[in-house]
Amino acid sequence: MKVAVLGAAGGIGQALSLLLKTQLPAGSALALYDVAPVVPGVAVDLSHIPTDVKVSGHGKDDLADALQGANIVLIPAGVPRKPGMDRSDLFNINAGIVKNLIEAIADNCPDACIGIITNPVNTTVAIAAETLKAKGVYNKNKLFGVTTLDVIRAETFVAEAKGLNVASVHVPVIGGHSGTTILPLLSQVEGVEFSDEEVASLTHRIQNAGTEVVEAKAGGGSATLSMGQAAARFCLSLVAAMRGDNVVEYTYVQVDSDDAVFFAHPVRLGANGVEEILPYGKLSAYEQKAKEDMLGGLRGDIQMGVDFVNG
Ligand code: NAI
Repeated sequence: MKVAVLGAAGGIGQALSLLLKTQLPAGSALALYDVAPVVPGVAVDLSHIPTDVKVSGHGKDDLADALQGANIVLIPAGVPRKPGMDRSDLFNINAGIVKNLIEAIADNCPDACIGIITNPVNTTVAIAAETLKAKGVYNKNKLFGVTTLDVIRAETFVAEAKGLNVASVHVPVIGGHSGTTILPLLSQVEGVEFSDEEVASLTHRIQNAGTEVVEAKAGGGSATLSMGQAAARFCLSLVAAMRGDNVVEYTYVQVDSDDAVFFAHPVRLGANGVEEILPYGKLSAYEQKAKEDMLGGLRGDIQMGVDFVNG
């Protein structure tokens, strides 16, 4: 198993790479790529941790080497938000970064599963899909927007609000990954009742949790440690699925449903990425309205990605 992390010297990239160095199965390879000159140092640093995961560092002229033979590529490369910014404000810089990296993936490891972390995820996943199509190597079962952070935040906040053991709380989160497109399905949390006020305030907190971190970091970036954990969980689920385990994760994939072309669903993962897109089940009246209200925005975000690649 080879995993490549593109943007590995950044806040998310370093946290994610640390978790993968300690948790990938024995015998795996972990390739770290970044345009920042510190990346070989990050790789040397991690290589001193005694696990059977071989780490390599790749600077800006060494992308092909990082990608060759990769089974999974995770992309947290790009700029994060500062206070007052929306995720869509990152589009101008990050769209081009994602497009270039995806072109290199198409050239060097077209069969890899790709997890996009770079924001705005609603749009960067569409950019990746269109770029892979232009290269003739698009496989919708192998392209994922990583929305796991929304799920782990939702689980943390619900457990806190209800005094529950977080290990036994499961909260579905569907839709996209920004503002109101993030739709937690609190009506489906087993064994817990919420008042209307609790639903409204928890939903608002989950949707704005990223901004909570951006403001608390006061100009120093956005979520990196919790995102590192979320991306590691997603990657390790993919690895387990590729090795034959039955794993379901919520992730933003091509669904071509009446909702939108891309939509976060529960997805059964398998040896070749998406094994099955599972239904997200019955929505409460509140969730149904929230979904209808946000679909126009989500579709617009997706179209922006399509237009970026196709002019
Ligand atoms: P950061 O600034 O700490 O790190 C980004 C890294 O990307 C830097 O090391 C930079 O050198 C590198 N980079 C820039 N251009 C590159 C290129 N062309 N090729 C390779 N590497 C390149 O940022 P951070 O905090 O790690 O965030 C990264 C991205 O993840 C941002 O777009 C942020 O908005 C997004 N994010 C996504 C979340 C999600 O839930 N999907 C949650 C939090 C952040």
